Amino acid sequence: MKTLLFDINDSDELLQAGRLINEGELVAFPTETVYGLGANALDDRAVEKIYKAKGRPSDNPLIVHVSDFSQIDEIAYVDDRARRIMSAFMPGSLTVVLPKKDVIHDCVTGGLSTVAVRMPLSEQARRFISFCSVPIAAPSANTSQRPSPTDWETVAEDMDGRIAAILKGDKCSVGIESTVLDLVNECPVIYRPGAVTASEIKDKTGIDAVYLAADADVNKVNSPGLRYKHYAPSRPMYLCRSGNIERLNGTMTSLFCGKRIALISETEYLNAVNADFKFDLGDTPQKAMSRLFTFLRQAEKCAEIIIAVYTDKSEKSLGFNNRIMKSCGGNIIAD
Ligand code: TXA
Ligand code: MG
Repeated sequence: MKTLLFDINDSDELLQAGRLINEGELVAFPTETVYGLGANALDDRAVEKIYKAKGRPSDNPLIVHVSDFSQIDEIAYVDDRARRIMSAFMPGSLTVVLPKKDVIHDCVTGGLSTVAVRMPLSEQARRFISFCSVPIAAPSANTSQRPSPTDWETVAEDMDGRIAAILKGDKCSVGIESTVLDLVNECPVIYRPGAVTASEIKDKTGIDAVYLAADADVNKVNSPGLRYKHYAPSRPMYLCRSGNIERLNGTMTSLFCGKRIALISETEYLNAVNADFKFDLGDTPQKAMSRLFTFLRQAEKCAEIIIAVYTDKSEKSLGFNNRIMKSCGGNIIAD
């Protein structure tokens, strides 16, 4: 299959992309979090193509993307609490899990009775969705297990020849996937941490408890040999969370002597660690999030071993720490 490249700022090309979606084809598109691999969420055959193109297990449910609130009422049951949260955070980088309506089929939800819904902050994304006039089911536009794409060139690396078209749009400003918040149970639970934090949800809505499912998962993530591989670069990767640089340099000398090493680090530690290639995550969680996936793909191209140093454990870094732990498969060094 020849994959067409469209300019998202060109209305004619956007129209063609919308037509492809309505014909049951896959189109990759930018959002502010990561690029998505979109299909008509109401067309089972189109949705099935997503799993094939990504090599993704079909029991892993997809997020349905909308461009306005009326589309949400068409696909899900929205109670008062959900409406309050949605009006505070949509459009934005928050996905909410709600009871689904019958128009959404099992192939989207992996057989669950719920559906995950998101209205992206990116105007380019919303414009594309509104041109399609249907809700868009979309996972991140990477091959399964690989780091998510934050620019269209990376989408092309993974998806060229596998999908009908790629919309060339802006580089993603957030850089990691949306926060996934379950609103089906009595108490809201964050399934996947992202840029929107539990404190922000509580502060903006007056809801007094938001649980973190990720807390329970942290122990699982800590041990090497995770059940599911995720966000993984093609080179062995190790994470130092302690900032104990003397120990890190010592361990690296004994374990990786003679290997080409790429360092992905907070600015503070960048100069102190011995490495052949250096990637600066910056000095805030926001900068680190927006750079991580790009750096993983660059580092695997130039080095044999990837070392990451990230010590910030603040709530704002929860999403970042969740992704980097999975990227390194739980390999912790110099702790
Ligand atoms: O930022 C994002 O969320 C990006 C962009 C493209 O919007 N999308 C994304 O999709 O990250 P994906 O498929 O890579 O991740 C979807 C996550 C998975 O962890 C999945 O298990 C969860 O959302 N999910 C989807 N539907 C769900 C449901 N009904 N109940 C619980 N979790 C659900
Ligand atoms: Mg993904």
